[in-house]
Amino acid sequence: MSILSIILGAGQGKRMNSDRPKLLQSLGGRPMIFHLLQTLEDLNSRQALIYGHQGHLLTEAVKSAFPQTEFVEQKEQLGTGHAVLQALPLVQADELVLIFLGDTPLMSATTVEAVIKKAENHDLTLLTAEMPNPFGLGRIIRQNGQVVAIVEEKDATPEQRQIREINTGMMAIRGALLQKYLPLLKNNNVQKEYYLTDLIAMAVADNQQVDAYIVPDYREGLGINDRIQLAQAEQFYRQRQTEALLKAGVTLVDPSRVDIHGVVTVGRDVYIEPNVIFKGKVVLGDRVRIEANTIIENSVIGSDTEILSHSRIEDSVIGQSASIGPFARLRPKTVLADKAKVGNFVELKAVTLGLGSKVNHLSYLGDAVVGENVNIGAGTITCNYDGANKHKTVIGSGVFVGSNSALVAPIVIGNDATIGAGSTVRHDVPEKALFFTVGTEKEKNDWQRPQKEKKEH
Ligand code: UD1
Ligand code: CA
Repeated sequence: MSILSIILGAGQGKRMNSDRPKLLQSLGGRPMIFHLLQTLEDLNSRQALIYGHQGHLLTEAVKSAFPQTEFVEQKEQLGTGHAVLQALPLVQADELVLIFLGDTPLMSATTVEAVIKKAENHDLTLLTAEMPNPFGLGRIIRQNGQVVAIVEEKDATPEQRQIREINTGMMAIRGALLQKYLPLLKNNNVQKEYYLTDLIAMAVADNQQVDAYIVPDYREGLGINDRIQLAQAEQFYRQRQTEALLKAGVTLVDPSRVDIHGVVTVGRDVYIEPNVIFKGKVVLGDRVRIEANTIIENSVIGSDTEILSHSRIEDSVIGQSASIGPFARLRPKTVLADKAKVGNFVELKAVTLGLGSKVNHLSYLGDAVVGENVNIGAGTITCNYDGANKHKTVIGSGVFVGSNSALVAPIVIGNDATIGAGSTVRHDVPEKALFFTVGTEKEKNDWQRPQKEKKEH
């Protein structure tokens, strides 16, 4: 059966106290709605997003990341039922329609599949959760175990408010039934809204097969209305990500202080200290060791490599048994061969560093290719930018660059050449040569330093 997913996102999200639409608030490093859209991607269903308040911001963001999404405007936000009504022209009678609330983005693909499975033998299937604190949510009313209605908090009796089984807002319903019931919704309730949830009682009264799938982990059903709930959702998201790493055999010194905003693939016996953030796609080889306060984005780190504290690595490929940091910055297109070493306060950009080569202290290398077993002394700088264009530096294998040297690109330093400390190198240096800059040196004996003037009071 074909599937249409309708995602509700027209509400203002007032309780966020924000200038941004609620569904674009960041969760796990991405707009919260992206999590749900990502989960739905594997379904290969048609999907429509209902937008309204600050709609252009929402639709632009979604369009760029999930271009297959269709958009339907809800001009006035008259309730969740009214929102789905706007998408009714897209609904076909013989398809299964999945309805999602955009502010409930953390349900897993497994859960969505479980609902779809249940929907095979039912006309309307709800996703419910047993919440420790159900305050504010729609309660599931059962008679003899059968779901018969949903009652919103504001319309519930004190007894109904005791019920802990709640409506997550996700449901699966046959297209034909949606076409039949949606236009019949009324807004005679406390909030004067067209509640989607009133569909349940209608379907039951009409002898349709209605059932619920109770999500095993209630946290997947957490709705996000304010920043407190956003922080709780973030905590759950982090926990889910770090638990997967722990199961894969990674040591996390404190799982509550590691963030995975993307996908991390790991080898065996990886060790990660607190306050490490992964973004995008990161691959860690066996026995990689990552010290505290490090950020790694879209990079591959080879086995037995250690990344010391306070380092930042972006779009880079690092070999095996390499050492980086503390306080190193590897900018995009950096490639380190095995056993390369990048020490403290070193910035690399678009640099290839050969086997066993070292840049240990206080250097900037940009747009450079460095051979094997090279030693770059402290304070070495590649002058790769002439104010208009970037130029390349090529350093052969076995080169020794003395401290505080400036290499003015474009430039080629031949294999096994030696650059004396404090040199400014403006032209190519041949293999095995020694290059050094001779400055004029002066010395004055018995030099008197300036004295502080005495202040008179
Ligand atoms: C809703 C459910 C409640 C459920 C809870 C789960 C209804 C009436 N209530 O309540 O049973 O327990 O979610 O979190 O369905 N939206 C629109 N257009 C509108 C109104 C809302 O697109 O006119 C969208 C919002 O952008 C939001 C979602 O629907 O993404 C839910 O709306 P919200 O107002 O947050 O509903 P809740 O009060 O949380
Ligand atoms: Ca909500």
